[in-house]
Amino acid sequence: MENKKEELTPEELKEKGYRVFDLIESYFQKLESFPVLPKVKPGDIKNNLPASPPESGEDFETILKDVEDIIIPGITHWNHPHFHAYFNSTSSSAGIFAELLSATFNSNGMLWKTSPALTELEEVTLNWFKNLLDLPENFWGIIYDTASVSSMHAIAAARERTGLEIRTKGMAGRAKLPKLILYTSEQAHSSIDKGAITLGIGSENVRKIPVDNKYRMLPSFLKKAIQKDKDAGLLPFCVVATVGTTSTTSIDSIAKIAEITGEEGLWLHVDAAYAGPAAILPELKFIFNGIEMADSVVINPHKWFFLPVDISILYIKHPQILKQAFSLTAEYLKTNEDSDVINYMDYGIQLGRRFRALKLWFVMRYFGKKGLINILRNHIAWAKEFESLILSNKEMETMAPVNFGTVTFRFIPSFLKTDEEINAFNERLLNEVNTEGKIFISHTKLNGKFTLRFVVGGIRMEKKHVVEAWDILQYHFNLLKKNF
Ligand SMILES: Cc1ncc(COP(=O)(O)O)c(C=O)c1O
Repeated sequence: MENKKEELTPEELKEKGYRVFDLIESYFQKLESFPVLPKVKPGDIKNNLPASPPESGEDFETILKDVEDIIIPGITHWNHPHFHAYFNSTSSSAGIFAELLSATFNSNGMLWKTSPALTELEEVTLNWFKNLLDLPENFWGIIYDTASVSSMHAIAAARERTGLEIRTKGMAGRAKLPKLILYTSEQAHSSIDKGAITLGIGSENVRKIPVDNKYRMLPSFLKKAIQKDKDAGLLPFCVVATVGTTSTTSIDSIAKIAEITGEEGLWLHVDAAYAGPAAILPELKFIFNGIEMADSVVINPHKWFFLPVDISILYIKHPQILKQAFSLTAEYLKTNEDSDVINYMDYGIQLGRRFRALKLWFVMRYFGKKGLINILRNHIAWAKEFESLILSNKEMETMAPVNFGTVTFRFIPSFLKTDEEINAFNERLLNEVNTEGKIFISHTKLNGKFTLRFVVGGIRMEKKHVVEAWDILQYHFNLLKKNF
């Protein structure tokens, strides 16, 4: 029998839409009762799903029931107020509404003409965001999906500026092409290596500059490394500094590094993917001291600005170089307005692009500058309170300064003597805490020491969650002390 399904009528859309909103509402109502990490084994979700799609269309009720029964139990709940791992990314309701509208309009902003509102709202919101953070007026912005992609584009622009015509001739196209060298700190995010790998720079040619005891890049070592490479006939072309490193949230000195890149004529890119939004706070403006001397900076509103994944912003001082690196207009993409407007497809590898500016606009308007300042300031204050609890506990130690909403620490039970034993203890504690599922924390390694990371950054997080998390950690600590 024929099963002919057609697109919903507007009335049906409303009826089913309410059902979806019911699910969203019930999800948020129940959120805190879910384990942050799902209690599933690899393959559990797949084994509950048929191997092929249905022959005949199904009712939304059946589909939504499977979302509740199969999908939600397999979700790691990033929106959970006890998600304290990595850099927590949470979606505010304003962000969710904007995503819904973005899917509704389904605009594709490859050209101005293919959605003027998408292009112009992107220009306007990126100027607003730039002003909130007091970034230089002459920084031009573009939205990509992730910081990895933003940084890759910045490195591509830096490569383009060398004048080596790699765009046309390729990396192997010129006889005796000098090796291009990129510098970043030992604490830089792996996305910088990946950008260099993608662009044919080669992972061998990414120099990892040592850091000081606060995990900040040592500019004197950077200077020496550049000189050494120049002496060897290599071609330094780009330095990546980080404001808010992934392991410890350390802050490289942009000003000191920019002095060197200025003297050497190197591109300075700043990775502020996590910590960038903190510059909205008057007391943290200093994190961007010297930014006017940088060439580009990446900031991810999907990390600590309550926008759903994904949205990453690249600000760049020389958009024309980015354009030179990427612009390529096929006949079928030419429009009458080309000389008067921004066609964002000219500034990156992708042609099609989603309407991400809508969610940035919604979130900035809904919370307002004061609202956003308030939320970020609270997160930082609670992280510092968590730090104070650690400092007053003889069996714990912090591992790096708390600059934002992230605390790095470890337990040092007095009966353990070596770092190996202490590492094993903290690793087991991490696993036991996360297996229980009430809170989710993550880890890193600092100078060989297994380090726990506790992040305060979610939109649904309150001070009580930090207090609860502390109690949960103490409970597991005391239990493990007896069983270790
Ligand atoms: C400092 C830093 N840069 C870049 C990234 C990569 O972010 P994305 O997932 O948006 O590529 C991260 C991820 O946590 C990060 O911490």
